[in-house]
Amino acid sequence: FEVNWDAEAAEKGGYEHFMLKEIYEQPKAIKDTMGCRISEDGSHVQFEELNWTTEDVTSIGKIMITACGTAYHAGLLAKYFIEKLARIPVEVDIASEYRYRNPLTDSKTLCIVISQSGETIDTLAALKEAKRLGARSLAITNVVGSSISREADQVAYTWAGPEIAVASTKAYTTQLVTLLLLALYMGRLNGTLTADEESRILHDLTAVPDVCRKIFDCADEIKAMCSSFEGKEDVFFIGRSMDYGLAMEGALKLKEISYIHAESYAGGELKHGTLSLIEEGVPVIALATQKDVEEKMISNIKEVKARDAYVIGVVQEGDTEVRKTVDTLITVPASDNFVVPIMAIIPLQLLSYYIAVSRGNDVDKPRNLAKSVTVE
Ligand code: G6P
Repeated sequence: FEVNWDAEAAEKGGYEHFMLKEIYEQPKAIKDTMGCRISEDGSHVQFEELNWTTEDVTSIGKIMITACGTAYHAGLLAKYFIEKLARIPVEVDIASEYRYRNPLTDSKTLCIVISQSGETIDTLAALKEAKRLGARSLAITNVVGSSISREADQVAYTWAGPEIAVASTKAYTTQLVTLLLLALYMGRLNGTLTADEESRILHDLTAVPDVCRKIFDCADEIKAMCSSFEGKEDVFFIGRSMDYGLAMEGALKLKEISYIHAESYAGGELKHGTLSLIEEGVPVIALATQKDVEEKMISNIKEVKARDAYVIGVVQEGDTEVRKTVDTLITVPASDNFVVPIMAIIPLQLLSYYIAVSRGNDVDKPRNLAKSVTVE
């Protein structure tokens, strides 16, 4: 008697690729990452592994976030989270830039490094440089005992579980969750966040693992959108505020696995150059989930529509205005402005995945890329 089985297929648990499996694992990964960091009554964040005092937060002069790739994109959103909720200035830099630019970092700086693997050489070197300059350090990583976790003064783990596909999915969303919790934690200690606001945001955040499943119900519709990308070699992602950071991650996902050239632009920057690239049929993915800048995004959508772009809008459920201006729509569950990006990236991950599959690409191991870059 002989059992024939493929270990890799077994690990994929019935999914065709690790990337798809990891996309679908996000509700659980997000839930595990929130874990016991939210009080039982849902009213406040408790970061036992940090155990900061008010003084620990009020003494921070500046936060320096440094990372590579997708983790850098999580850092871009963290700037919005922390500056808006905790009112502490945040600078975000690519680790390979930070380490060589003689950065303005001192003992009043809190350096936050973000790394799924905890082994990326540039991120590790940036952390060492920040420490050399006297900064306090905090690592956000997915791998217990990794080099970065050992080097940093403190660690907050994302509990995404092993991520195998080169293109990061569940590590990114769990990084966003950890960073939002951190911003809330700092906001309360800093006195810049009211208890009401904290519990209101936490209410929406704790609902994510359940409500984000609604996005999976639309997977077939998202798959059908692939036909709009046939023969296209350039795609633009636009957004404002936190949607701009999300646009960068959406464009990276598409580039990594579909090999389509994709660029992200802040909506307001279009007219400073990019608009010249928009012509008939060019796909534009317009992220319009942020209510406070919705009107401005609608103007930007009209600008590209006037040049005959093909626009896919990404909006919150209940939208009545954006839908009037776009060719097709992706809807994500309605939520707080800070929480919605955690869900809005999921349809973009799925879209990139299906486009890459339709092009016959090796989705889990895209050409020229590695999961973890441990040499310069
Ligand atoms: C590589 C991976 C990316 C990842 C980046 C940073 O380029 O392909 O998916 O975002 O490294 O990796 P890290 O492990 O530090 O988050």
